[in-house]
Amino acid sequence: MKRSHNCGELALTHVGNTVTLAGWVASRRDHGGVIFIDIRDRYGLTQIVFDSEDNAQLHTVADRLRNEYVIAITGKVSVRPEGSENTHLPTGHIEIQADALDLYNEAKPLPFSVEDDVHASESLRLEHRYLDLRRPKMQELLQLRSQVAYLTRQYFHDQQFLEIETPILTKSTPEGARDYLVPSRVNPGEFFALPQSPQLFKQILMIGGLDRYFQIARCFRDEDLRLDRQPEFTQIDLEMSFVDREDIMSLIEHLIRLIFKETKQIDLPHPFPQLTFEESMARYGTDKPDLRFDLPLHDLSAFAKTCDFQVFRRAVEDGGMVKALVVPKGTAFTRNRIDNLIDTAREFGAKGLAWIKMTEDGELDSSIAKFFNGQDLRTALPAANPGDLLLFVADKATIVHQVLGRLRLLLGEELALIDQTRWEPLWVIDFPMFEYDEASQRHVALHHPFTAPHPEDEDLLESEPLQAKTLAYDVVLNGFELGGGSIRIHSPRMQEKVFDLLKISKEEAREKFGFLLDALESGAPPHGGIALGLDRLIMLLGQTESIRDTIPFPKTQKAQCLLTHAPSSVAPEQLQELSIRTTAKKPATP
Ligand code: AMO
Ligand code: AMP
Repeated sequence: MKRSHNCGELALTHVGNTVTLAGWVASRRDHGGVIFIDIRDRYGLTQIVFDSEDNAQLHTVADRLRNEYVIAITGKVSVRPEGSENTHLPTGHIEIQADALDLYNEAKPLPFSVEDDVHASESLRLEHRYLDLRRPKMQELLQLRSQVAYLTRQYFHDQQFLEIETPILTKSTPEGARDYLVPSRVNPGEFFALPQSPQLFKQILMIGGLDRYFQIARCFRDEDLRLDRQPEFTQIDLEMSFVDREDIMSLIEHLIRLIFKETKQIDLPHPFPQLTFEESMARYGTDKPDLRFDLPLHDLSAFAKTCDFQVFRRAVEDGGMVKALVVPKGTAFTRNRIDNLIDTAREFGAKGLAWIKMTEDGELDSSIAKFFNGQDLRTALPAANPGDLLLFVADKATIVHQVLGRLRLLLGEELALIDQTRWEPLWVIDFPMFEYDEASQRHVALHHPFTAPHPEDEDLLESEPLQAKTLAYDVVLNGFELGGGSIRIHSPRMQEKVFDLLKISKEEAREKFGFLLDALESGAPPHGGIALGLDRLIMLLGQTESIRDTIPFPKTQKAQCLLTHAPSSVAPEQLQELSIRTTAKKPATP
């Protein structure tokens, strides 16, 4: 029996036709002499009727069917009796009176039932991913992913981009995470690294004269996993020659707008607003602000410098700052709730969290109120209204921003300040070239070491490196970093200088990036590019909580695949062949 239609397309227009459908048993309801089966495939559900009066033998077979059995049925499409229509289902006005059935396969008892409202734990879902993937929500997300890939390819092909693949077995590129390594059997003791991104290859492609490159590229990073990170993920990656940053920003903005419009009929703002890194950090404490709600950070350093509260004064005297969040109607917070916020602030890295309630009559209510002149505080913080709760962190700028930025998000959620129907994209630009890494006592690149400095800031590179800004840009949506890129360094002199400032020795630079330096010396065009996280894009577009829902076979928090049980130990002979001995406690077993 070959299917004539899919399970989502039959309607009143087909009444009277004899059809064949194939799919999975989604449900079986036994009404005495009549059995109703819902048959499901990727396209939908259709109701099948087995009536013992019409065909007793077939009814007996249908009686044996259980959920997730794979069947094909043939029968006549008929109108559902009045009152039994299902208006929520596109096929809800018809049903099929079965007169033949093929049972292709049975299914053993299910660990969970296949439905969107799934109650199984995620690990059970991942272990039995083949069942999980049958859920309409999962199919919808993978369909969305496929549609986005299609639109992306079409968009770039239309603009003369070439789709070019870059190697998976390659040399380490410095995107800042740990590399996944692959031992080389034929070169004992040597390793490939899986690419953290195609960064260096796409630059080489520009030097190779390819002019416009894109790729839907798999990337690998061995880093701590969070809800928006996977060790193996996908980028929409591109690079262009002879362009400035506005060209690239506008190109990618159009693509994002196109994707939202075509897949979800959402109109994103045109153009996306822009914030400098400095503005974003100052106002939101982060370089990926969620603009769906306000709740900004207020700088009270000037006020703090002259107040009587030691903690505040000292923080500013030591070169730090004091900033505050004004929580609307926060005087209603109980002592317990405030204590919880203090604990959370400590977990986020603060030494403490000072708080003051501004009572309805404008007085200050707090154990530290005695240190402040109410009038001065109100002048310094005009945003505070009677009934509000003020939360302060005094520390180095990085700590203040990190803690208040995260508290802002937490309070935004808790107080339901976030309008879930809003879409707020933005560009963050003018990133600093370097940040100072206390642990290693040296400058590290904020993006990657191939990012070009702002032409006006080239002089600062040596004199005040932390002040130098780059031609980098990040695109942020609803508080998630969707993508990032930059104009690159195309002068070999500048590239060497940047390696130098990063304390990468000449020998190390040669060893790691010799091919890039040689290429830069062989006629490199000015070029730049960007990469969007495809999985994150689908996560946001598909409105799912976890990046794992956007990937058919994802890894867990512990970087394991529960379906295949990768990673796993290997046979001792395999290791021997690779000239590898493991020091891990667990013995290698086949
Ligand atoms: P970057 O490292 O910012 O830039 O990566 C670009 C985008 O890729 C996504 N992303 C991830 N998604 C899921 N899991 C991860 N572990 C993960 N890491 C990154 C993010 C991020 O914005 N070569 C440069 C791009 C360039 O300069 O052109 C790069 O890789 O959405
Ligand atoms: P202490 O003097 O340490 O008892 O702190 C007095 C109050 O100031 C307490 O409510 C602390 O939580 C708060 N506090 C301490 N350190 C800081 C800080 N760095 N920033 C903000 N508040 C702080």
